[in-house]
Amino acid sequence: MKKLSLLIISLFVVGILAACGTSTKESNDASSGSGEEKKVLKMGTSADYPPFEYIDTAKGSDIIGFDIDLANALAEKTGYEIEVQDMDFNSLIPALQAKQIDIVLAGMTPTPERQENVDFSDIYYSKDQTVITLKDNDLKSVEELKDKTIGVQLGSIQEEAAVELSKQVTIKIENRNKISDIIQELKTGRFDAAIIETAVADGYFETDKNLTGFKLEAAGDAGSAVAFQKDSPVTKKFNDALIEMKENGELDELIAKWFGGEK
Ligand code: ARG
Repeated sequence: MKKLSLLIISLFVVGILAACGTSTKESNDASSGSGEEKKVLKMGTSADYPPFEYIDTAKGSDIIGFDIDLANALAEKTGYEIEVQDMDFNSLIPALQAKQIDIVLAGMTPTPERQENVDFSDIYYSKDQTVITLKDNDLKSVEELKDKTIGVQLGSIQEEAAVELSKQVTIKIENRNKISDIIQELKTGRFDAAIIETAVADGYFETDKNLTGFKLEAAGDAGSAVAFQKDSPVTKKFNDALIEMKENGELDELIAKWFGGEK
């Protein structure tokens, strides 16, 4: 009896040690891309952002999109493997800082504020921003947004754009964690309009004929880049691979696949 419990305890200890072994391997060995086994990079994203990253519920439960394809292509070139984790957009930078994830691809714009906490690759895609609204609301200009409720994603540059906008015209700003929630609030009339980047807004216009919008010129472009932990050895490898993909046309191919050709 005593022997048996000793055996169980030692199996348990071995199990724990083995588990520790794998987890340190994944996070510590992320620096070297060579070797027989591919190193896993944990990629954080916010899968509420078609066509960058989303779940096509008609087709399954996998997260798909431009960022997923791009991450896999970059990983392939540098000897890594990607494991995608879905979280709120607002949690991505803290998760990188806490080293819970290794990289972020989430249509994320490199802002000076974010650059204080994480590193970024070059920009891989850029589009301007759109005020999206219901056709029935008949809002066609910034002036017409006066006294309206504007929805934005929590922690996004669109939230900052709304704050800027509020200096120009009186608006009420509301934030939500997910773009899908913002669209829902628009449809139920709780929000009069929302600020979303144009590539994402265009997708909604296509699938929902009740939606329309106008460009928010003042907000400038929302460029997307890969974010990394500060001083990560992965940064240079990924950026070199990204430059290669820009030069050999692979990036344009992915852009054509997900955004329909135009850049
Ligand atoms: N480009 C904007 C930003 O960096 C919005 C990105 C939102 N991405 C997402 N997956 N919901 O703030």
